[in-house]
Amino acid sequence: MNVFLTGASSGIGAALAREFARRGATLGLVARRRDALEALAASLPGRHHCHPADVTDKDALIGAAAAFEQATGGADLVIANAGISVGVLTEYYEDLDAFGDVLKTNVLAMAYTFHPFITSMRTRGRGTLVGIASVAGIRGLPGSEAYCASKAAAISYCESLRVELKRTGIKVVTIAPGFVRTPLTSKNPYRMPFLMEPEDFARRAVDAMLAGASYKVIPWQMGLVAKLLRLLPNALFDRAFGNRPYKPRRQSGAPD
Ligand SMILES: NC(=O)c1ccc[n+]([C@@H]2O[C@H](COP(=O)([O-])OP(=O)(O)OC[C@H]3O[C@@H](n4cnc5c(N)ncnc54)[C@H](OP(=O)(O)O)[C@@H]3O)[C@@H](O)[C@H]2O)c1
Repeated sequence: MNVFLTGASSGIGAALAREFARRGATLGLVARRRDALEALAASLPGRHHCHPADVTDKDALIGAAAAFEQATGGADLVIANAGISVGVLTEYYEDLDAFGDVLKTNVLAMAYTFHPFITSMRTRGRGTLVGIASVAGIRGLPGSEAYCASKAAAISYCESLRVELKRTGIKVVTIAPGFVRTPLTSKNPYRMPFLMEPEDFARRAVDAMLAGASYKVIPWQMGLVAKLLRLLPNALFDRAFGNRPYKPRRQSGAPD
């Protein structure tokens, strides 16, 4: 099984890489930090391919995908996992660029990741594209304007693609994680119910991907919360989340 995975240098991506490698997969690992990718690849059983790239650069991804397909004969699974989360408040001019970066990384780069694989998957009549969305895409949370918008867009985008590709043999799987302990959540100033360890999350996520699930919230308890949140009338939702602390905004020059 050949798996192309973005955001592999940290958190959920690194845990997915370890889980797939344990199950015998050959991996194509993508992120900007070459050193982190190479250290991860060296620690995994099997032989893997590192493709350092910025996922917001579509030509870099086309190049990485071509190199991976040439080295392995084709990807069975492509996982668009790279993502950023930063607090954004529309009233601040400097947050508008952060808004753009979040949408570019979490939404556009998902399409950039899938694009180079679709034609060859269609020719082979099989393959799976996986989008890592978030429970944060279910309802808009205060202070997380860009992140919630990006994950809502990711969920709808993956659904469009799933229905569109249904007859080609290509499956599209949307995974919506709840809270997972990674650098992305380490500074969250609010409670994180049902927080999962990345390894535990990765085991369940890989099972869902291999089963070809159309949409899966992990853990299941957050799936229940997501369903309830969807049903909650606005007046109740606004009251419940009105005082939620905000995710920190980006300090100028600091990474997300
Ligand atoms: N942790 C959670 O609770 C949680 C919950 C719901 C959804 N998610 C989603 O899960 C995904 C992974 O999150 P995580 O928690 O594992 O975060 P993380 O530990 O911060 O990892 C983010 C990964 O994305 C990569 N990345 C970011 N921007 C990139 C870019 N422009 N080009 C290439 N790679 C880029 C980073 O690599 P480099 O910095 O080396 O480029 C890193 O490998 C994200 O899509 C996130 O939104 C996470």
